[in-house]
Amino acid sequence: MSALPDRDAAAALRVRPMSIHIGAEIEGVDLTRPLAPGAVAAIRAALLEWKVVFFRGQALDHAQHVAFARQFGDPTPGHVVFGGDSVYPEIYSVAKHRVANSVVGVPHVRPWTGWHTDITAALNPPAASILRGVTVPPYGGDTLWTNLVVAYRNLSAPMRRFLEDLRGIHRFEDQQEGRMSREYAEHVRRSRFESEHPLVRIHPETGEKVLFVSPGFLKSIVGLAPRESEALLELLWEHAVRPEFTVRFRWEPGSVAFWDNRATAHLAPRDIFDSDFERQFYRVTLVGDVPRGVDGRESTPIDGDPIVPV
Ligand code: SIN
Repeated sequence: MSALPDRDAAAALRVRPMSIHIGAEIEGVDLTRPLAPGAVAAIRAALLEWKVVFFRGQALDHAQHVAFARQFGDPTPGHVVFGGDSVYPEIYSVAKHRVANSVVGVPHVRPWTGWHTDITAALNPPAASILRGVTVPPYGGDTLWTNLVVAYRNLSAPMRRFLEDLRGIHRFEDQQEGRMSREYAEHVRRSRFESEHPLVRIHPETGEKVLFVSPGFLKSIVGLAPRESEALLELLWEHAVRPEFTVRFRWEPGSVAFWDNRATAHLAPRDIFDSDFERQFYRVTLVGDVPRGVDGRESTPIDGDPIVPV
């Protein structure tokens, strides 16, 4: 049971914004225990407003991490391509050398990624992701998020109108060009996740317009010539991650980041590879809806099944 009655639990929460456009730290809540409905509602409201919220000093184990997540939605399998923890299938290990996820027959090592929104190659990308830091470098290994609603609003009006009619192809593919093993490349090839999403989606809870341009997965824009598509994507990716739309989080052991995957992209760091520091995090993602464009059209599947709860 939650230690506080509902109204008191919500009142005990303090939401401290970290930048003008994105990110807030939430204090006054213990995530190891079931939350009062008022606290769940307050955290959800902060998440929708600030796009990513952070908690400090939460010593969650896997069971508590999953239980916390379940109060906000249905967890997906740890990772639809790379699997999850053998005991807690909802848990995905994000390790420095990415060694601990169970996909039979595949070496358990996969590369680090750049700016992306989680699994947008799927028809229904996760609604939210919850990442907790367990082994945290003393410095370095931060994570950055960008607010794709604000990115959209900061485009010119003619560009916004132009993008609203466009759709993009998102694909999960081996970006490592031979640097990983053949088994890895073969596993990614066989996993075949590909979807067509609107370039501007309507957020299903806030109604906001989101510039839905996940750099790691979005490969081309439907109907444009290849060079037009390439040039426009380069412009949008550069725009989407302008520093004023972003927040940078410095992790401590027990830190938790909870982000709205429908309205953000994030950058997993690479700097720790220039150090001997270890970094072991765990992530749970929540099942998302099928995106809808400004014209009301839903995304369409090209390959792979929709993500279902685990
Ligand atoms: C992720 O891409 O979900 C992990 C981000 C991180 O490791 O900081």
